[in-house]
Amino acid sequence: MSQEKNPSFVRFQGVEKRFGKVVAVKEMDLDVPEGALVTLLGPSGCGKTTLLRMLAGLETPTRGDIFIKGKRINDLPIHRRNLGMIFQNYALFPHKTIFDNVAFGLKYRDVSKSIMKEKVEKALETVRLPGVGNRMPSQLSGGQQQRIALARAIVIEPDVLLMDEPLSALDENLREDMRREIDNLQQDLGVTTIFVTHDQREALSMSDKVVVMKDGFIQQEGTPEEVYNDSANHFVADFLGHSNFLKAAVEGEQDGYLKARLDDDSLCLVNPAGEFSRGDRAEIVIRAQKMTLGYNSDFARQEDMNYFFGRIVDRSYMGGEVSYFVELSPGQVLHVINFVKRAPYRRGDEVYVKADPFHCRLLKE
Ligand SMILES: Nc1ncnc2c1ncn2[C@@H]1O[C@H](COP(=O)(O)OP(=O)(O)OP(=O)(O)O)[C@@H](O)[C@H]1O
Ligand SMILES: [Mg+2]
Repeated sequence: MSQEKNPSFVRFQGVEKRFGKVVAVKEMDLDVPEGALVTLLGPSGCGKTTLLRMLAGLETPTRGDIFIKGKRINDLPIHRRNLGMIFQNYALFPHKTIFDNVAFGLKYRDVSKSIMKEKVEKALETVRLPGVGNRMPSQLSGGQQQRIALARAIVIEPDVLLMDEPLSALDENLREDMRREIDNLQQDLGVTTIFVTHDQREALSMSDKVVVMKDGFIQQEGTPEEVYNDSANHFVADFLGHSNFLKAAVEGEQDGYLKARLDDDSLCLVNPAGEFSRGDRAEIVIRAQKMTLGYNSDFARQEDMNYFFGRIVDRSYMGGEVSYFVELSPGQVLHVINFVKRAPYRRGDEVYVKADPFHCRLLKE
């Protein structure tokens, strides 16, 4: 029997943080469900670290309240918050053994030597590094050190695990491995986790919920699918993946879609995000991966809508996929990413780009 999970295990209510004139976090309302992995995603300076530090007790909110399990923790000192933390730089103590590094979190708790030994060994096993307790941090690789940091964070059985860009110091392959490992570990332990990143792939691949932030505000929160497929605004659509934006005006309805006229006078059936009226100015968002490139002869039937004609002005092979830039008119360039075909299109080729109406999302301007 699974117990009812608390949908607001961690709650930020009207939280704001000012540093002098800088407002780092504004009117933040956010619920983190019990057992979930929630990522805070956004560009540098949008307030991600500040939000984590307030939860950890390293910063005091200027206003608003923070709750863990329904209990207001604004005035609770750091060591009584029962949080595990991992930061960008492994921050292991270089002159302490791995054992002492992991045991550090238990030091200020009333734990006997034998229980401590047991807990440290178990944490090392959990991160798949059993038996390294006697080594020094310098004798481990970067990825291993980061796993030790993870062991140190989970050894205390925290209520919440906080991770601030824990993978950014690792190279691409190792990152991918660690991302999956953290994801699996988090699910096995069922520990509520807040993960900070500015890497959209990281956020989309591991989260139950993604919180997209900009300038201290939440722009959108939802499942990875929701924020990606149903981006709430230009910023979110632009931040998550390769998006094309085309300005248009709403003309009417057709076949369950809206008909929009682009600035070059061509027509496009689009999938509206929200309510629109005839004459509204709007913006069409199309992901680079959601369009198909082809010569005239590649398409069985040319429709007069949802096809764009242009010339390839740039192409780059990315292994598995090819990225094309197709100039429709001076200054209007579409980015199209397609899987490699036998005869990839060349720079200078005249091509058509087809966009399915479902993938042409119409956003308010
Ligand atoms: N101690 C501080 N004193 C003054 N300003 C600060 C302080 N800490 C953060 N800020 C400012 O608050 C804003 C948010 O910073 P924060 O570190 O939370 O951003 P971030 O989203 O974590 O960025 P990054 O991705 O670069 O780590 C920034 O404008 C930053 O300059
Ligand atoms: Mg930061």
